[in-house]
Amino acid sequence: MIGIEKGNEELYRLLFAEYTTAYTDKCAEEASADGRIIFAYLDGVPAGYLFTVYERGSEGIRHFFTKPDFRGQGVMQAMIRYVIETSDMNIATGMSSAHKFAPVMEHVFKKLGFSRRVGRNLYRCDAEDMWERWDEFMAKSGNRLCDTLRRQGYKTVTLSDAPEDLLWQFRRAPYSEYKCEQNHQHLILPGAEVTQEISVMCTLNGRLAAYVFAYMPDSISAIYKTLSSSAALQGGGVIMLAIAESLQRAREHGVKRIVFTMENTGKRANAFREKVLSVLVSKPSYSVSYFYDTSGRDKNDQ
Ligand SMILES: CC(C)(COP(=O)(O)OP(=O)(O)OC[C@H]1O[C@@H](n2cnc3c(N)ncnc32)[C@H](O)[C@@H]1OP(=O)(O)O)[C@@H](O)C(=O)NCCC(=O)NCCS
Repeated sequence: MIGIEKGNEELYRLLFAEYTTAYTDKCAEEASADGRIIFAYLDGVPAGYLFTVYERGSEGIRHFFTKPDFRGQGVMQAMIRYVIETSDMNIATGMSSAHKFAPVMEHVFKKLGFSRRVGRNLYRCDAEDMWERWDEFMAKSGNRLCDTLRRQGYKTVTLSDAPEDLLWQFRRAPYSEYKCEQNHQHLILPGAEVTQEISVMCTLNGRLAAYVFAYMPDSISAIYKTLSSSAALQGGGVIMLAIAESLQRAREHGVKRIVFTMENTGKRANAFREKVLSVLVSKPSYSVSYFYDTSGRDKNDQ
């Protein structure tokens, strides 16, 4: 019989000592600070744990684990069911298609009434001739577009050199203005993982027109977290100026491997993928999906 109980960080370290990693410790810490730690017992024996965090009006399932000997007996399902039944918030979780247990997780989430919503594709560019291909593309059409934009008055500045006024514009802009799925303002907070020297903001007459934020997890890789242009200026190619400048900086920093993370939705994302991203890479390396509990009614309506 499976029993579910609330747990805490100390008990997690004690009961699951053999199965902790730096990542699960971090999740436990976050759940302890602002979320929930839940344990499952199979016939009284500790069998699994699950961590959640509260995030912008929903409870996010961050990580869950069933001890190898107890797998395939409904432990994960029992823990997730418990979260659904006891939370007064909507439940969400994210999952990468590259995860070893993706088929199991997808099966369970769907079975429990979650539905897949927006996905995010990750495109890995690491071909040896990546930069040569980029040069060819720029020579053929990219430089012309960038020159036209510059003549129209568009300017670029790296995040490291961005004046306070521009950062202030970014901070106070509603994220819908940049048609992002997420609010990216945390990316410019002190200590954020963004690499300022390769992150670029684009302006028109001193107004923030577009931005490209990326970070370097090591000395040869860059992860592009977000590319966005102001809703009013979309369609004019301004994002191209920001990305070209950012890639140039990344190259100067010795980047040889790039990952772009892109939402799967939207015509503009498709156009960017076809026109620009396809120069560097042709198909997604893997995708991240978000699952939302739609088994009950929207708890925010209660
Ligand atoms: C993923 C994990 C938590 C699953 O836990 P579990 O307790 O074995 O899961 P459950 O027994 O509740 O459910 C497993 C379900 O997946 C199904 N399943 C098993 N293999 C499958 C596969 N290859 N494809 C699709 N479904 C599969 C099982 O049939 C079962 O469904 P059913 O009850 O409808 O028959 C466990 O394997 C684990 O701890 N993995 C390591 C940690 C991890 O990767 N955690 C997730 C990251 S957040």
